[in-house]
Amino acid sequence: MFGLLRPALQLVPAERAHGLAIALLERLPPSAGPDGDPILHTRIAGLDFPNPIGLAAGFDKDARVWRQMLGLGFGFAETGTLTPRPQAGNPRPRVFRLEADRAVINRLGFNNGGLEAALPRLRATPRLGVNVGANKDSADRIADYALGVAAVRGLAGWITLNISSPNTPGLRDLQGEALPELLAAAAEARGATGPPLFVKVAPDLDDARIDAIVRVTLESRISGIIIANTTLARPATLKSRHAREAGGLSGAPLMAPSTAILAAFAKRLDGRLPLIGVGGVASGADAYAKIRAGASAVQLYTALVYDGPGLARRIAKELAALLRRDGYSSVADATGAQLQA
Ligand SMILES: Cc1cc2nc3c(=O)[nH]c(=O)nc-3n(C[C@H](O)[C@H](O)[C@H](O)COP(=O)(O)O)c2cc1C
Repeated sequence: MFGLLRPALQLVPAERAHGLAIALLERLPPSAGPDGDPILHTRIAGLDFPNPIGLAAGFDKDARVWRQMLGLGFGFAETGTLTPRPQAGNPRPRVFRLEADRAVINRLGFNNGGLEAALPRLRATPRLGVNVGANKDSADRIADYALGVAAVRGLAGWITLNISSPNTPGLRDLQGEALPELLAAAAEARGATGPPLFVKVAPDLDDARIDAIVRVTLESRISGIIIANTTLARPATLKSRHAREAGGLSGAPLMAPSTAILAAFAKRLDGRLPLIGVGGVASGADAYAKIRAGASAVQLYTALVYDGPGLARRIAKELAALLRRDGYSSVADATGAQLQA
């Protein structure tokens, strides 16, 4: 069905097509989906997922369709980014399909309806994560994260601190000197009984920055790292006419660089924190490559634009076959295999 619709959808501007997809999904009955293949069962920071294929943040910014996405075969889903106050984002057009590169460039700038409006649609289930950020015009960005964590701590399986969007000027600076203060404020807002906190980083980090993030994260109460957000880099291989648009690049061209950064974190952490690999996953082989590089699970967004709603199921099936082919009995068994080799 998606194959038949795809040529028509490509004629619709990217953001409009996304709006249509959300409207269609909202009409589907929510469903948890089948349990799936036991070899794919994954446990991260005490959360149980039926499979390690997750929906990345940004698709379901306002928590409208996460149940339907679980029903389409995702093992877990991350909503957001939600900011304390509603925010319109940058002027349109601000999302561009790079068809020939199987990529997207976006400079949305955290368009969302705000935390409060989303609260009734959230649930404290292990398979739902809430990604929080700061308003663009906030006078105290760290306070925005603390507000976000406090607002959703009883309504999420985990909370992700997004400090890596390239589309809110200065936000990525939170990956530097301010990081200890941010993580302390988030941990305090989470309290003793809140859900695990993850932090989501950029793929555009040098070795010194990776070392510092690893050190600070290990000294904090963070339970995992999501690697990575979109990139500001523009690989020379890009062929599409939109390649020079400003914003964050995602999709196939991000697969290799984001996996290299994931491996760099995994090598330094040596199993001390679970990692979620994101960037360019479009097949079971891609998911397997991230797992072997050190991920306990993966997330994706851009490949959905090109491959449609059957993608999570297909990737799960392909991944299960690859694990069996290589004699693994679980995803955890294969996590970091490449680092030991
Ligand atoms: C249109 C679009 C919007 C996004 N919005 C967010 C967001 O609000 N918060 C966030 O943490 N990541 C956001 N992302 C980044 C994705 O979650 C993911 O980290 C990145 O796209 C790489 O994965 P992919 O190559 O599978 O898309 C967005 C990505 C796209 C394409």
